[in-house]
Amino acid sequence: MKESTKESFEKTRIAGSIAAGALDEVSNIIKPGITTDEIDKICYEYINDHGAYSAPLFYRGFPKSCCTSPNHVVCHGIPSDKILKEGDILNVDVTAYKDGWHGDTSRMFEVGKISVKAKKLIDTTYESMMKGIKILKEGIQLGDIGHAIQKHVEAQGFSVVQDFCGHGIGQSFHEEPTILHYGKMRTGKKIKAGMIFTIEPMINLGDYQTKVLNDGWTAVTKDKSLSAQFEHTVGITKDGYEIFTHSQKFS
Ligand code: MF3
Ligand code: CO
Ligand code: CO
Repeated sequence: MKESTKESFEKTRIAGSIAAGALDEVSNIIKPGITTDEIDKICYEYINDHGAYSAPLFYRGFPKSCCTSPNHVVCHGIPSDKILKEGDILNVDVTAYKDGWHGDTSRMFEVGKISVKAKKLIDTTYESMMKGIKILKEGIQLGDIGHAIQKHVEAQGFSVVQDFCGHGIGQSFHEEPTILHYGKMRTGKKIKAGMIFTIEPMINLGDYQTKVLNDGWTAVTKDKSLSAQFEHTVGITKDGYEIFTHSQKFS
């Protein structure tokens, strides 16, 4: 492994484990009656206590330390005094910045008992992310990742959001390449050992189309159908990959 790759992997591993740890903390407090601001506070404090910064805070004017995206919110929901209620599904997305490097991850949380349909959407979204990850190694093409995700999602009758994508990550929060969660096999750039990027499919129960609300951030499904998302930060090796944002609690 190149010396520079070794350093970038080591540092991303640390930032990634802090981000994953923040989500583990969040999992302890999720229940009907809490607000998304309480989740934001947990993320802010956990990340700070681990000697890192929350990358979303003040990123392009974003006002909080994490994104909280319930139900039909696709991504970039802003924590607020909104109270979570039984049956809600919620994505929490955190990014830790530590020692010059970023780790970016998100997970779905279930508030109390959720519907069978919502559970199926969450499971399919997680499986699709893992299908995109499991094929990773030097030499595959970006379209192979999108294809693996899209095929799994559409077989269940759900749709892949096209307006937001995964991204290279490292010393900056968002960099090249753009990782589409849909696509065709054997198309797109070849991936190389040493690359670090996110895979973060957003999957809708209904139509794939989204719109951004007047706050300039909150993206929702146009048809108001439920949306789910998972995200890992991964590094590419000659014969595989490493997930930098694995959780101690959640597999
Ligand atoms: N964490 C998001 C991502 O996965 C980006 C959030 S940017 C913010 O890329 F400003 F909304 F926080
Ligand atoms: Co990301
Ligand atoms: Co993220």
